[in-house]
Amino acid sequence: MREAIIETRDLTMRFGGVTAVNNVNFTLRERELRCLIGPNGAGKSTFFKCLTGQYVLRHENGRVYLRGQDVTGWQPYEIVRLGVGIKTQVPSVMNGLSVYENIWLSARKVNNRRAADKETRQVLEQLELGDLSRRLVGEMAHGERQIVELGIVVAQRPQLVLLDEPAAGITGSETEKLVTLIHRMNEEAALVVVDHDMQFVRMLNADITVFHQGSVLIEGAPDTVLSDKKVREVYVGNRAA
Ligand SMILES: Nc1ncnc2c1ncn2[C@@H]1O[C@H](COP(=O)(O)OP(=O)(O)O)[C@@H](O)[C@H]1O
Ligand SMILES: [Mg+2]
Repeated sequence: MREAIIETRDLTMRFGGVTAVNNVNFTLRERELRCLIGPNGAGKSTFFKCLTGQYVLRHENGRVYLRGQDVTGWQPYEIVRLGVGIKTQVPSVMNGLSVYENIWLSARKVNNRRAADKETRQVLEQLELGDLSRRLVGEMAHGERQIVELGIVVAQRPQLVLLDEPAAGITGSETEKLVTLIHRMNEEAALVVVDHDMQFVRMLNADITVFHQGSVLIEGAPDTVLSDKKVREVYVGNRAA
């Protein structure tokens, strides 16, 4: 079996009286693609922010290991330096710059100029953004911008990619493209994709972890998980199932 790239041990995060993440033991292996789903308020984004360092963890929050290294208490920039690419729900593109420039600036952080040029061209090809390379990101449609954000993430060739709701506001053929691009990214990296859109999650066709009230409700292959009675119950009223 491949080695674990993420391991959490009794990961817990409380906000006042709310336990957003409750003793979660989660393992992701090298080159694995995993979907993380659950109804609104289940704790997905909080869990995600514990992995990225957006919530800096203390001892009472449990432990996070990346490639066996204890990163509990690490800051986001330290996590990124380990080779983790992060796309949060908050856009991180620079609207006043072109697609090329946005991706190049990201590539440049880990490459010299010449290598950044080359990397940028490869990313544009990989994400089928070549035709849009000179467009100002601020003038692009929302779905296209989401893809540019993926470009910014992959430009640093992370071995682990964490995506929070990459399909938010994306429709139809754009969703299919996004699924293809995520599968392509998965040829090189392990990924965690947080989403509550069941249609999108089905298309990704990867193992699923279901969060409910801060805990893992069930984990496994998509067919098993998506037809599970408990999963359907927690999604009742959420329409997404
Ligand atoms: N910064 C915060 N302060 C207080 N409560 C929060 C905060 N972030 C999340 N919560 C609460 O924690 C629970 C989990 O939220 P969240 O992780 O955003 O869920 P999800 O992403 O699955 O919708 C919810 O009850 C939410 O209201
Ligand atoms: Mg969320």
